[in-house]
Amino acid sequence: MLTMSSDKRKGLAGVVVDETAITRAAETGPLTYRGYEIQDLVKHCSFKDVAYLILYGELPTPAQLRRFQTKERDYRDISPELIALIRQFPASTDPMARLRTAVSYLGLEDPEANDNRREANLEKAIKMLARMPTIVATGYRCHKGLEPIPPRRDLSFAENFFHMCFGEVPEKTVLRCLNTSLILYADLGFGPSTFAARVVASSLSDIYSAITAAIGSLKGPLHGGANADVMRMLLEIGEPERLANWVEAALANKKTIFGFGHRVFKRGDPRVSILYTEVQKLARLRDGEKWTTMQEQLADIMRERKNLYPNLDYVAGLAYYLMGFGVEMATPIFALSRVTGWSAHVMEQLTANKLIRPIGSYVGPAQRSVVKPGAA
Ligand code: COA
Repeated sequence: MLTMSSDKRKGLAGVVVDETAITRAAETGPLTYRGYEIQDLVKHCSFKDVAYLILYGELPTPAQLRRFQTKERDYRDISPELIALIRQFPASTDPMARLRTAVSYLGLEDPEANDNRREANLEKAIKMLARMPTIVATGYRCHKGLEPIPPRRDLSFAENFFHMCFGEVPEKTVLRCLNTSLILYADLGFGPSTFAARVVASSLSDIYSAITAAIGSLKGPLHGGANADVMRMLLEIGEPERLANWVEAALANKKTIFGFGHRVFKRGDPRVSILYTEVQKLARLRDGEKWTTMQEQLADIMRERKNLYPNLDYVAGLAYYLMGFGVEMATPIFALSRVTGWSAHVMEQLTANKLIRPIGSYVGPAQRSVVKPGAA
């Protein structure tokens, strides 16, 4: 048990706070969702199957999948009021800030927001899964001065997202890469944003508040925001010939190199090689091999100099850039997938709830009496 002063763990590193039956994420052994290895899931499943698995605990039968898909497609539209709100956001706003505000607004619009029964929360989870892509795509287009494109029911999750952003559906290689990244991003145990969602849920608040908090946490560059910063960094370096000097200077100045390191996977993130196979195909298709060359060089240098390995954000940031999205879109795309994990964790928290309320070790002034400054 942790005590007031001596046993504190900065950043809760290594602290087991609760049990979970969703994802097994540890330094050793396989990374699994509900017992299935991620490699196996990527090989045999679509993101839709995996979203169902994470939310319901089992892979769907064909009939269950049809019902889930119908629901998700039926829920894709967002209200005219929300579209009007998104149009009003200042042009300079961060898309994660837009998403955070819009998801909070979804909660305002839902009369069932405060119903914390499992069935009700599952329904709300599917609503958010369906509507967050519409929110992100609407924000993306409004920000560029373009008219929003409404969702289409006849398209898959990934196809529809491209359609709403760009007005067209890209090649299979591109769709496959997005689908793979969404599967790999769906959950990873008690990461900061998931923990934030569980903390909010533990006070018996509502699922929209929990997901809004999670989006706020994911936005940070030490967490999901890293996938956008990876691409900013590569663009700043610009050319492979400049890379070695740039990294030396960055390390000498003790800069954080985004996309490296992980609280759990100290010897490498098992998701990286799975996505990288798809990113290489994408780079060949989109004439982006300069960037994969740079990523490989940088990974070699970081391993040799710092014993640090790339995390999923390292490859996903490049993947989304090569798909044609602006750099800043990488983190919202992460959120479109992770909302499944967040929602499952909220429901898991509520099934065996205990208020999450740790203690801090007090290091402020010793007790003293009030003497107002300036008083005689
Ligand atoms: N670039 C440079 N140095 C790094 C680094 C990085 N990306 N990641 C870790 N380090 C260094 C730390 O500075 C620290 O060095 P020190 O012992 O000399 O102080 C050491 O490696 C240990 O790192 P630490 O910050 O204690 O690990 P952590 O478990 O607390 O942090 C991260 C994990 C993810 C926050 C950290 O690796 C990081 O900031 N990575 C970059 C952001 C990122 O990619 N985030 C996405 C995570 S999925």
